Amino acid sequence: MQKIVVLTGAGVSKESGLDTFRDANGIWAKYSMEEVCTPRGFQRSPQKLHDFYNKLRQDLPTVKPNAAHIALADWERVIKERNLEVELLVVTQNIDDLHERAGSKNLYHMHGELYKLWCTACDMKITWNQNCFVDTPCPQCGQENLRPDIVWFGETPYHMDAIQKALLQCDLFISIGTSGEVYPAAGFVELAASANAKTIELNLEPSAGTSRFNESRLGPATQLVPEFVKSWLQQYQSK
Ligand code: APR
Repeated sequence: MQKIVVLTGAGVSKESGLDTFRDANGIWAKYSMEEVCTPRGFQRSPQKLHDFYNKLRQDLPTVKPNAAHIALADWERVIKERNLEVELLVVTQNIDDLHERAGSKNLYHMHGELYKLWCTACDMKITWNQNCFVDTPCPQCGQENLRPDIVWFGETPYHMDAIQKALLQCDLFISIGTSGEVYPAAGFVELAASANAKTIELNLEPSAGTSRFNESRLGPATQLVPEFVKSWLQQYQSK
């Protein structure tokens, strides 16, 4: 069984119309990371933080999966339909739902999801597509302790045990549209390399991690990802 792990970052959703974080005009050029992406920011000014995620949640239905999301979802579908001896896992740092809207099924959101809230009183995770306010009651316990189900700086990303296991067993690791600035995701290339996986980066420009990959291809995700998937399928069939 060939095992493939794909890591995606904000760059994969850029051409759908969603801002990245660290590019010029990115989210961190407009908002304070400390205010909207840390537990301390939430304690200090919870409504400000809710407003930030409310806006992102409102914008999400206005954008669509692009050719990169679709190529990854099609890749998984073809593997299944043709019964190929291949396991493909997509791990995304993105909190948007564009991978699942494109059709990806084997998918982990390591930094949480915009369409979920977490009640810190009763620990319930709630699917949520509206605005949330400091006084919005939890539909389960009624307390006003809802927060976005997003992993903030200083918190532990989700699914880490399963992700690490997959990286330590994979044959191919592909990183798409991420700056390689944020750990633990930035260290995935090294974990995969320690398992002797081939490591490939597909990014618009060189990232902080470029030198750690076996191969780095530069360009927009909507071009590089469909090209990569097409040539992988051709090579697999010619084996
Ligand atoms: N195609 C491919 N790559 C692109 C494209 C594109 N069309 N547009 C931008 N990129 C690249 C940029 O060159 C950059 O290297 O995507 C990367 C985006 O980097 P970041 O903005 O840092 O986003 P990401 O790596 O996903 O950030 C990681 O940081 O703030 C946190 O929690 C947030 O999950 C996020 C984490």
